[in-house]
Amino acid sequence: MLVTGASSGIGRELARELGRRGARLAIAARRGELLEALAEELTAGGAQRPSVHIADLAERGAAARLAAEVQDSLGTVDVLVNNAGGGVGGSQWRVGDRNEGRDAFELNFWSPLALTSALVPGMLERGGGAVVNVTSLAQIGTWPGMGHYSATKAALGVATEALRLELIDSGVQVLEVIPGPVDTAIQGESRLVPGFQAATRRMPMGDAAELARLVVRALERGQPRVVYPRLLGLGYRYPGITRRATIRMARRHVDPSFRSDERVVRSGSFGDEEARQARAEWERTREALARR
Ligand SMILES: NC(=O)c1ccc[n+]([C@@H]2O[C@H](COP(=O)([O-])OP(=O)(O)OC[C@H]3O[C@@H](n4cnc5c(N)ncnc54)[C@H](OP(=O)(O)O)[C@@H]3O)[C@@H](O)[C@H]2O)c1
Repeated sequence: MLVTGASSGIGRELARELGRRGARLAIAARRGELLEALAEELTAGGAQRPSVHIADLAERGAAARLAAEVQDSLGTVDVLVNNAGGGVGGSQWRVGDRNEGRDAFELNFWSPLALTSALVPGMLERGGGAVVNVTSLAQIGTWPGMGHYSATKAALGVATEALRLELIDSGVQVLEVIPGPVDTAIQGESRLVPGFQAATRRMPMGDAAELARLVVRALERGQPRVVYPRLLGLGYRYPGITRRATIRMARRHVDPSFRSDERVVRSGSFGDEEARQARAEWERTREALARR
């Protein structure tokens, strides 16, 4: 099994859950030290030591190289989890087609498709396997300053639907994981998006470990999608209602001065200073809360 984006958040919890169940894992991300620490932790807990792969999936060609490396280490890959993700914040007219926007598509859309292209033929030959694509509820309920990120996730969501149709009755399962707010460092970054915190303050916030358990259960049961937190499943099922509600919230919570905001903020652990600080601040607060 290959889990991308396993160095933190949802991917790390998924790797822990799968490792505990005896999966032979390959884990990938850019922060090698966190991957090594996870490999140690899993091994100490009695799981097989995962193979660790450092890859920057926002770089064209990196996903194909990763697939080849993982196949060298594991032989075959029966479950592909496309979880690594992130993006860029800023208005449509500031981000436009800048590199930050294109890199978000490379990471969130093209890399999952490249891994699919490299690994699904083997699954088909063996008559079984699974592709798990982590998209986002932002594919339906987007927000000012989040257009590029949402577009990458909408693109992956549609590709996932098509993949499921292409693989009907093949023995290869296609599972879309559609998170709403989940308590990871991404929440720190989302505080930088104008009005987003005020608009989402009443929304339920999910837990990455619980989501990981639901994903593994969905894999075991052959389910097509997991929307989490569950309460937000209605928002996915009725996109028209979600979009109307989002317009009302944007009017209420986004100051029109946003339009002259020139910032383009690359997110993630290697992102711009502002994003990295917001992630670190979120993580510090959560650690302090956990110690209480
Ligand atoms: N948390 C939420 O509220 C939420 C909501 C909707 C969707 N999601 C989606 O859930 C997935 C996991 O996010 P998370 O919440 O767990 O946040 P996270 O803690 O920031 O995890 C993101 C993971 O992706 C990896 N990654 C990011 N950029 C990468 C790159 N260029 N190359 C390789 N790996 C990269 C990161 O590892 P490195 O930094 O070490 O490379 C990290 O392991 C993402 O696809 C995200 O879009 C999250």
